[in-house]
Amino acid sequence: MTSAELEGKTAIVTGGARGIGAAHCRALVGAGASVVVADVLREEGEALAADLGERATFAFLDVTDREQWAQCVDVALRLGRGSLDILVNNAGINQPTPLVDMSPETWDRVLAVNLTGHFNGIQAAVPAMRRAGGGSIVNTASITAVIPPSQLAPYVASKMAIVGLTQVAALELGAYGIRVNALQPGYTDTPMMAGGDEAAITAAMPIHRYGQPEEVADMMLYLVTRATYTTGSVLAVDGGAVAGVGYAVAD
Ligand SMILES: NC(=O)c1ccc[n+]([C@@H]2O[C@H](COP(=O)([O-])OP(=O)(O)OC[C@H]3O[C@@H](n4cnc5c(N)ncnc54)[C@H](O)[C@@H]3O)[C@@H](O)[C@H]2O)c1
Repeated sequence: MTSAELEGKTAIVTGGARGIGAAHCRALVGAGASVVVADVLREEGEALAADLGERATFAFLDVTDREQWAQCVDVALRLGRGSLDILVNNAGINQPTPLVDMSPETWDRVLAVNLTGHFNGIQAAVPAMRRAGGGSIVNTASITAVIPPSQLAPYVASKMAIVGLTQVAALELGAYGIRVNALQPGYTDTPMMAGGDEAAITAAMPIHRYGQPEEVADMMLYLVTRATYTTGSVLAVDGGAVAGVGYAVAD
């Protein structure tokens, strides 16, 4: 990746203030793009944008709020002098609770952030991408869409649904030169995994460690730059966790 590969391109990264989203922001700026760090975490988001320099700016965005989405796209268009080329739908929450004890509010909120937040982002960004003659959208699924853990019903449902959303969006937007793909991260070393037992969680995996956010961001960069014949796909960055299920069963 040359540092100029995305020069002149503008991106929005949701949930960009920390974790995998922050790595996406760093990778995009590193490749020459201008980036809107969009998040509900103002302090962390503003600090990251300041650290990234003049090609980054923070926008307060709750992905469930469609008015805030319109404002966020305006921020991106100002930053990008009229163009928006890349949307990384990354924001996600995870509220582990046994299914029978889960409140309807928890169910609704997780689906609203993780799934409807992606839908809102696609609807907000696509008109500008169409005007620009094309673009790239990267959604965020999860290893849990393939290996569902207990206590994560709305999270798993949202991540499985993102695969379907990605495929339909790819079908409908291909005619406008917009590619739509999804990342499928495995267990990644971010605040979302804080408190997890890394050794136990990764014991049956071919690669016995959590992934780093930068390793997920590398796949995102591949999708938005080199993957010109890839759309509607789900790309795993999971340390072989899916293969690890077979390994554990064979044991
Ligand atoms: N960490 C993992 O092991 C892992 C594995 C698979 C998939 N993922 C997915 O990767 C994405 C990033 O996860 P992470 O591990 O970096 O988590 P994280 O909790 O460290 O970061 C999530 C970010 O999303 C932001 N966010 C939460 N609600 C929001 C909202 N309503 N609007 C805007 N921003 C909001 C948070 O403020 C935070 O900055 C999520 O979609 C997650 O489901 C993570």
